[in-house]
Amino acid sequence: MLVRRYVHSLKRMENLCWVQLFAVFLGLNHQAVGGDPFGDAGISARGGQNCDPAPLIKYHEGQKECMYIDPTGARKIGFGYGLDRADAKKVIAKLGVNFTKLYDGPATAFGSACHCSDVICLNEQQISQLFKVALSQAVSDAHKAFSRFDELSCNVQNVLVDMSYLWGYADVKGYFGKFLAWLGIGNWHAAADDLSLTEWCMHYDSGNMKRCMDDVKYVKMGSTCFQPFTRKCNSSSCCKEQETCCMDRWRFVEYIEKTLPEYLCCPYPNAECCPGRNACCPHGYPNCCPTYCCPPGYPVCKDKKCYSVDGKEMAEPHHGIGEY
Ligand SMILES: *[C@@H]1O[C@H](CO)[C@@H](O)[C@H](O)[C@H]1NC(C)=O
Ligand SMILES: *[C@@H]1O[C@H](CO)[C@@H](O)[C@H](O)[C@H]1NC(C)=O
Repeated sequence: MLVRRYVHSLKRMENLCWVQLFAVFLGLNHQAVGGDPFGDAGISARGGQNCDPAPLIKYHEGQKECMYIDPTGARKIGFGYGLDRADAKKVIAKLGVNFTKLYDGPATAFGSACHCSDVICLNEQQISQLFKVALSQAVSDAHKAFSRFDELSCNVQNVLVDMSYLWGYADVKGYFGKFLAWLGIGNWHAAADDLSLTEWCMHYDSGNMKRCMDDVKYVKMGSTCFQPFTRKCNSSSCCKEQETCCMDRWRFVEYIEKTLPEYLCCPYPNAECCPGRNACCPHGYPNCCPTYCCPPGYPVCKDKKCYSVDGKEMAEPHHGIGEY
């Protein structure tokens, strides 16, 4: 669980009060970059290769020219470049900076100014070089985590890169599997709702930063529907062409359980939805019985048959109630 990782790494922090660090990590980053909302471009069009996740990530990470420790206990510098990354030693050395001195040197609280006479500070060029390296890793991790990445609209692509930048490939796959699965079937709205109930969003997204909830917002904006989920239910969910979109309630099980309204996909074309049942009936059978469907005029379900309201007439049911 994420919580264990957090708690474990919190214990490693000695130099600074973690409450303060939380405030810094979750809140002040915002002020550090200042900033407008990002990522609205490309909602209606496929992103392809032309999305730019950099502004969103910079906005979420904030910028600092000297080393600081984030709430997970990780040493970072620049736009949240993690000094514990496998390639950090090499990349930092390439900038002409003594890695050991930087890594073992004193950390500055994120909200405080860097005293560059006492600690190592990077210049703008070095910071942007680090960002370039970390960003290209995040882009490749995002592609690896979601194979149809290029078919997503920019707002969703950028969220996947933002998450990969923060968590890395293994944790994105490990902790956000259901979120990725909803994306995989083109249900952006359900993906966003699922994400909003994860430990990251529920537990570690307080303060005024709200990186996770910000990402949720962008996912909810939706994406273009891709094959074979080409039927658009609403702007943020899709079904297969031969299916029917049914609005129902879905019980999400993440860090917390919650039932939320979603468009779900009925396997029948032009189907009759059975709201509240997570089920649907084929076209021409509008009456939903517990395990079967009845034709018009026969709304009474009894003994696996369909009856008229007065119980006098009987009709044959359709036994294949659809479920989702
Ligand atoms: C890096 O700094 C450390 C002291 O923090 C020093 O011992 C080491 O020799 C330095 N390395 C280089 C290559 O300058
Ligand atoms: C889209 O559908 C969801 C249910 O999945 C609903 O909650 C949401 O309000 C709808 N969004 C729009 C923009 O209509």
